[in-house]
Amino acid sequence: MIKNIGILTSGGDSPGMNAAVRAVGKLALHKGIEVYGIKRGYLGMLNDEIFKMSEEDFGGIIDRGGTTLLTARCPEFKDPKIRAIAAKNLKKRGIEGLVVIGGDGSFHGADCLFKEHDIKVVGIPGTIDNDIIGTDYTIGFDTCLNTILDAMGKINDTAISHERTILVEVMGRGAGDLALYASLAGGGDGLLIPEQDNPIEVLAYQLQKRRKIGKLHDIVLVSEGVGSAIEVAETLKEKIQTDIRPVVLGHVQRGGTPSGFDRILATKMGAKAVEILSQGHGGVMIGIEGNVIVTHPISHAWEGEKTISKEDYELALILSR
Ligand code: ADP
Ligand code: F6P
Repeated sequence: MIKNIGILTSGGDSPGMNAAVRAVGKLALHKGIEVYGIKRGYLGMLNDEIFKMSEEDFGGIIDRGGTTLLTARCPEFKDPKIRAIAAKNLKKRGIEGLVVIGGDGSFHGADCLFKEHDIKVVGIPGTIDNDIIGTDYTIGFDTCLNTILDAMGKINDTAISHERTILVEVMGRGAGDLALYASLAGGGDGLLIPEQDNPIEVLAYQLQKRRKIGKLHDIVLVSEGVGSAIEVAETLKEKIQTDIRPVVLGHVQRGGTPSGFDRILATKMGAKAVEILSQGHGGVMIGIEGNVIVTHPISHAWEGEKTISKEDYELALILSR
């Protein structure tokens, strides 16, 4: 029976990470497993910022955005010699299992610890980008989507008043999910995502057509993976006569209290992580597929390419006309 586990958050923070930490911590303690918090992700593992956690550390955090364990990016972790130092810091405390909450970069680091140092790792997908293979949703995506929808509502008011075209740049790295589902749920009038060819001429034509049928304002979702909304606005200005403004939503998208969906997802995934570790297993990631919590080998997260739903994309295009 595993006695001690570590937990860390790594990469970009996402709302719901704390809810996952809470679930892992409380359930592990319930099973008699000691829990060590590791601050600042792999950087803290390397710098030995590791502390024993107790019930109080898991209280009052389920609704808090960000991550109380703090997060960081630690490029040195790609070096096996650096990872060996970090692994030693775990082993000297008898930490045999590790829960890594983060994106696919963080999962890569976890996989290395598993293969090189036999640390039983479990990856929980925490990122607003929803870009991890093996899960329909990542923790933080839903909250972020709702933040974008809130912003779209406000932007819509001023777009209507001024009869403008507003290009809203949203995050997502190489994934267009945030833009796609913001368009579907927020009534977007145009959509540019990296998974699809996005000729500006097609967007320009579509916006002109909208004017002809009396639609005098537009909200266009621009996924950051396509490029900057500011640059798209400059190109678009050469093709259509409407008054255009780019809006970059930026890091406001990463904050805020997690939605109910993200809290439940984080809680269920956290519970599954503890179940796996308590059975002595590791080297896996957790996902949700078709509303069922599933596990995959952690390397599944980067095998192949995460695609968007073509059906949903087509739907968003039709509805944006
Ligand atoms: P995310 O986990 O959100 O995808 P990053 O890609 O920035 O975020 O990765 C977070 C951290 O994971 C990196 O700073 C690094 O410490 C670690 N990491 C990323 N890629 C690798 C890799 N190939 N090998 C080992 N560690 C990695
Ligand atoms: O991966 C999460 C994310 O917010 C991406 O959507 C975005 O491209 C990136 O992180 C921003 O990173 P940083 O916080 O380093 O500016």
